[in-house]
Formats: sequence, C-alpha cells, structure tokens
Amino acid sequence: MIFERNIIITGGAGFIGSHVVRLFVTKYPNYRIVNIDDLTYAGNLENLLDIEAAENYFFEKANICDAVRMRQIFEEYSIDAVIHLAAESHVDRSISNPLSFVQTNIVGTANLLHIAKEAWQNAFDGKLFYHVSTDEVYGSLGDTGLFTEETAYDPRSPYSASKAASDHLVRSFFHTYHFPAVISNCSNNYGPNHFPEKLIPLSINNILNNKPLPIYGKGENVRDWLYVVDHASAIDTIYHQAAIGETYNIGGHNEWKNIDLIRLLCKLMDEKLGRTAGASEQLITFVKDRAGHDLRYAIDSSKIQRELGWTPSVTFEEGLSKTIDWYLANPLWLEHVTSGDYLTYYNKQYH
Ligand code: NAD
Ligand code: TYD
Repeated sequence: MIFERNIIITGGAGFIGSHVVRLFVTKYPNYRIVNIDDLTYAGNLENLLDIEAAENYFFEKANICDAVRMRQIFEEYSIDAVIHLAAESHVDRSISNPLSFVQTNIVGTANLLHIAKEAWQNAFDGKLFYHVSTDEVYGSLGDTGLFTEETAYDPRSPYSASKAASDHLVRSFFHTYHFPAVISNCSNNYGPNHFPEKLIPLSINNILNNKPLPIYGKGENVRDWLYVVDHASAIDTIYHQAAIGETYNIGGHNEWKNIDLIRLLCKLMDEKLGRTAGASEQLITFVKDRAGHDLRYAIDSSKIQRELGWTPSVTFEEGLSKTIDWYLANPLWLEHVTSGDYLTYYNKQYH
C-alpha cells in the first residue's frame, strides 16, 4: 500500500500521545502512523488496543535518544513528518530525578531534530516537525493575566525548564536552518488513559479505594484544564494548517483552584457511585506543598481560535463526567497501572 504521508508520533503509548495516535490512525487511513515509544512507566500499549491492528499503524519500541534506531526508522518508513510528544512529564518526578528529564526532554529532542534534518537532507518541502509542549514554560502567573504566545519564558521546575530548553532547540533549528518546525503549548490535560500520578486520575483512583486525597498546600493553586480529546483535535488542526515557524497556545479558558476541582470531582463521584452526598470530600487531606509550586497557569488561546478556527468541544463538567465514566468502565486498566512500580513511587511521594 502506498501512503500519502509517513508520520512518526513519539510518545504514542502515553496519555496524550495515545489519543493523537488514535485520531490520526482512524481519521487518515492514507497516512502511515509510526508510534515510537520506549514504554517507560508512563507508556502503556493497552491505551491503543482498539487500533493496534489497523493497516496504517506501526509500533517501534525505541528510545528517542538512540540515534542509530531513530536513523533506521526514518529510513525504513520514509518519514516526512514528526509529531513529538515523548517526554518525562510529571513535575513531582522532575523534582526527585531531574536528570532523566534533561536526558529525554532535551537530549532526546535534540537527537530527533538532528536526525530529521539529516534524513531530509535540508530539502524541507512537504516536511514537518511538530513539537508538542506545555504552558508551564511560561512560569507562574499571579491572580490576573494570561499566557500568550509572546509571554517570556520563565520555567521554574526541572520539568518545565527541560521543556523550555526543547522549545528553544526547535526554534533554533527553524531560525538557523529554515527547518520546518511548529510548536504548541497546551494547558493541563485530563481525560481517559491519564496515569494516576497526576491530580485528577490520582484522586479518582483514591476515591474509588476510599484513600486520602492529598492536596498540596492549601489547594489554592490554579490550573487551566482541557479535555485530552480536544488537545488531540487542536494538534490535528495545527498539523494541517499552521505555517512553518508558528507557535500556538492551546487551552480551554477553564481555570480551577485545585480544592474547588477536587470538591466537584467528589460530588460527581458520590453521585455516580451512589454514595451519601459529602462522603468523598471527607477524604480530602492537606499535605506538604510541592517545592517551587507554581501558583497559577492560564492560557490565552485566542490565536488558534481566530487563525485556525479551533475551539474545545466539551465543557469541563461534561469532560470530567466522561472521564470518571471511563475509569469506572476500565477497572482492569487502573489495576494494571497501579501495581508494582506505582506503589513504590506512591509510597515514596506521599509518606
Ligand atoms: P506521558 O508521561 O503520559 O507519556 C509520555 C510517553 O513518552 C510515554 O508513553 C513514555 O513511554 C514515552 N517516553 C518517555 N521517554 C521516552 C524516551 N526517552 N523515548 C521514547 N519514548 C519515551 O505524557 P503526556 O501527559 O501524554 O504528555 C505528552 C506530551 O505533551 C509531553 O511532551 C508533555 O510535555 C506535553 N504536555 C502534557 C500536558 C499534560 O497535561 N499532560 C499538557 C501540555 C503538554
Ligand atoms: P499535576 O496533575 O501534577 O499537574 P501540573 O503540576 O503539571 O500542573 O498537578 C496539578 C495541580 O494539583 C498542581 O497544582 C499540583 C496539585 N497536586 C496536588 O495538590 N496533589 C497531588 O497529589 C498532585 C499530584 C498534584
């Protein structure tokens, strides 16, 4: 079969990557999608069971830092585009183990850029390197204001610093070599397949198991939440429409204080589980604050809305309800990812 495009998606077995892989594999049967993922603790092929037999889907277990393997894959599949999501992604882990973030997020991205440039031999027509990044590169907001594409970078955790460094490398390739790159910076995602180390899936899992809900500090920190399927649709839009060298912020104008979000989650889960109103809220436990905890993130996504016509499709209440329903319908997924290594991580982080 001759494919119209040959696209690498890195980190496709992770949370967001699996939704992007599913969207591209099903929506574009003429595209060959090559998922490169090293299956770290966060990578899970169970996220892709429904599409793994598709004729246009290919999986390569490989580390993005491995130059020999990356070169082979570029050649074997005649790659003409990369959507790069592979990363170490959890702030708390970056505080306890910053070097793995430097390795994958910075060195891994540099390696992919270098090999793509080499494979494309500076003939960039029809080629694209799409780098998926985070709003955390902009640092922390006070009570007012929004991150725009012009906001100066001010990363404050090893995670956000490593993502900022990778963004700078991508832009440097664009400016220096006219390398065909685009970048997007998205706010906090939530939805199905989210690994239960992050606030929302961790709390869903703990409510199900009647375990304490650890809230850092006073729960006053604010995050701007976007349903993961909407992030995937924004990536689709940017992949197909953005001009080379552009950056887009992606967000849902949906700011929540952590404590208010967890109260809403408790209320929805009490209803769905048939528990007495207020039962799950009793599990809320305030714990020691995260080191260097960013106060507030909030995205101005007017550029992508105005220029590319993208808007989120679900409200937060709808998205949260769908997310809880997914976890209730997939107890085995949760059971598999919360055994072994997860318990070691959890006990170290929270006790
Ligand atoms: P995730 O941790 O769920 O998934 C990361 C994936 O990358 C995993 O499948 C893992 O196995 C793979 N991976 C890690 N190191 C690798 C390596 N060296 N080589 C190959 N594969 C490797 O992360 P996520 O939440 O899905 O985030 C995906 C991307 O989106 C990241 O780049 C992240 O910075 C960005 N992002 C995330 C959010 C969010 O809220 N989660 C928001 C904005 C941007
Ligand atoms: P998280 O889901 O780790 O995403 P990020 O740090 O990338 O924004 O955390 C979201 C917010 O929830 C953040 O302010 C930290 C807070 N938080 C808790 O209060 N308790 C927890 O156990 C976790 C994991 C996060």
